Amino acid sequence: MTPYDRWTLRTENTSYTVRLSPDGPWAELDAWGPHGAEDGPSALDWSHRTHFITPADAAPAEYLPHGQRPFTGADLIAGRPGRERGVRWEFTGAQEGPGTLRLTFTDDLIGLRTTLCYAVVPGTDVLHRWTELTCTGTEELRLERFDSGAVNVPVTSGARLTYLTGQWSQEFQHTRLALTRGTFTMGSTQGTPGHAYAPWLAVQDLAADDAPAYGLALEWAGNWHITAEAEPGGAVRIRAGRVPHEGAVLLAPGATLTTPRLACAFSADGLDGLSRVWHRYERHLTGERLHRPRKVLYNSWEATGFDVDAAGQLELAKSAADMGVELFVVDDGWFTGRADDTAGLGDWYPDPAAFPDGFDRFVEDVRALGMDFGLWIEPEAVSPGSRLLAEHPDWAYRIDGRPSRLVRNQLLLDLGREDVQDFVLATLDRLLTEHRIDYLKWDMNRPPTERGRPGPVPAERLDLDAAHVHGYLRVLDHLRTAHPHVTVEGCAGGGGRVDHTTLARTDVVWPSDNTAPLDRLAIQYGFLHAHAPHVMSSWVTDAPGIFDPRPRSLAFRFVTAMCGVLGIGADLRTWSPRQRTEAAGWIARYKDVRDVIHHGEARLLGSPDDATCGVQYDGADGRTVVAALNTGRLDGAPLVPGRPARLRPRGLDPDARYRDEVSGTTYGGAHLLHYGLPFAWSADHDAELVVLSRHPARRPA
Ligand code: GLA
Repeated sequence: MTPYDRWTLRTENTSYTVRLSPDGPWAELDAWGPHGAEDGPSALDWSHRTHFITPADAAPAEYLPHGQRPFTGADLIAGRPGRERGVRWEFTGAQEGPGTLRLTFTDDLIGLRTTLCYAVVPGTDVLHRWTELTCTGTEELRLERFDSGAVNVPVTSGARLTYLTGQWSQEFQHTRLALTRGTFTMGSTQGTPGHAYAPWLAVQDLAADDAPAYGLALEWAGNWHITAEAEPGGAVRIRAGRVPHEGAVLLAPGATLTTPRLACAFSADGLDGLSRVWHRYERHLTGERLHRPRKVLYNSWEATGFDVDAAGQLELAKSAADMGVELFVVDDGWFTGRADDTAGLGDWYPDPAAFPDGFDRFVEDVRALGMDFGLWIEPEAVSPGSRLLAEHPDWAYRIDGRPSRLVRNQLLLDLGREDVQDFVLATLDRLLTEHRIDYLKWDMNRPPTERGRPGPVPAERLDLDAAHVHGYLRVLDHLRTAHPHVTVEGCAGGGGRVDHTTLARTDVVWPSDNTAPLDRLAIQYGFLHAHAPHVMSSWVTDAPGIFDPRPRSLAFRFVTAMCGVLGIGADLRTWSPRQRTEAAGWIARYKDVRDVIHHGEARLLGSPDDATCGVQYDGADGRTVVAALNTGRLDGAPLVPGRPARLRPRGLDPDARYRDEVSGTTYGGAHLLHYGLPFAWSADHDAELVVLSRHPARRPA
């Protein structure tokens, strides 16, 4: 093999080496791991003996089409309509740049050029992969499957898959599965990543408890799949890509389809290290907006529902401001016709009956309390009786001759249409320029059901899912450029649309509508494996609230919400002076440490299945914040002899000294690493926020 047949891409701490296969015209993975992992014979190599399958079926291929890889799963299924669905290509060249690689394969018979693309993300341990497909012939091509890429992980006794799954109000449940044989697949056909699965997967060798972890995240806000297959030869191969709504996409002569990016991450430090790789990557995605402080918000949804009026909102706003809240957000219910969820969507004008002195007067009254002002909107939605739908019946998805089903009593606009995008842009521009709005919560509360576009173009020629996603991203991009001061929160009935394309264009996301303390803890635990604290919006709500009735203290609810971007969603009108004072104390403490929480290195300590768990944040300023939570078990306290619960921080300097800013206790780093922090939990003391500052003086030698 010539040296030109092997290419290594280097991230901060890892390298990814691809080679041309000795067995045929395809690229395959040679090594992926810490720097130097590529120095030796490939661990992905195989015996080169095959029975009943072809070498392409057994190879750790980076990307292979049906035709060439006939039996064990192809990444691309393409052909001329009505003809054979197989591609047979030749390698036609490599292009290497700083941190980038492009490998091209061509099939002259059907006229298809396929380029596998690689790019290192600077300052991270993430590599992007995507594929470009160009129709080079004179006949159009039908693409039934066009994954972004495939990755191979060598395992010795099966793979441990970790994924995030659930449903509405139970998103991001951290779930594990041992894959020794067969296929595991997850995805969404809901036009968004969906509540059922996050487009995120971690893969480890089952042989060890917490083996080095490989991570994948598909960067696509529409339909998708991630599929892991345990191959007979002792590897797990994962394919990921978007899934076209119509079952296939047509590629016209001369046209190129670029797949979504597949972000590939690696950490030698197992799942915990992998979460920090993703956190760092998401800080990179946030760019310079990372340093814009995420303000403590109050959102009135749980307090007032659709019952929004100026007087009621101002009462809440005054209480919020008194506690130190910095931003007041009016949720659903502020616009004309919105008495409940059956009407109003699409007609985005403040309801004059709700704001008798004018909406602007109300906004100014909120601002006069010293807070920013924010508004909820669901730009893709339309209610059946709205003026918008009456004027533009064709703007909602529908199939001629079929009734359109309502979900949450509403329809979905076809945001892939340019006229719909222009309407949404004009609506947002109007609201954001006519009123002094600093914050927008963009919601989306139904999936497409009758997904068709009335008109001259037959459905099979449309790529509606991609068109919608591009419309969505176009509007988000516009918000960033035209209204850079506006902070954007992404939401889709909770965490239904959390993916990297959204995270790159919003400031925070709403992981779930479920804010009940213990449920929320489990949701956040899963969320923080994949996503960074600075994007995780979280509210303190009433207890018992509308979900999980298990009681936890106000402190517990604050400490949980402080693990990300703190907000309050409780009905403050019912709060006692004592609760308000306690809340003000927590808000002040949060403001003091939020930079550490949002910009520091985060580590999950234990899990919500443990009696004590927490999150540790190490800031650049030498402070370590530990959010510690007792999930309920007290083991007989206080009547039986016992010792305090302990939570062991990780990654501290064993030779440094640390001082607890509240109690004044000082600890050696080695002591903390060895014994952990003590917590004397009781029925009404179930959470603490410990702030440790690193002493300038080191432990005496
Ligand atoms: C969705 C959101 C909630 C709230 C309601 C308003 O369910 O996830 O936070 O905004 O819509 O209708």
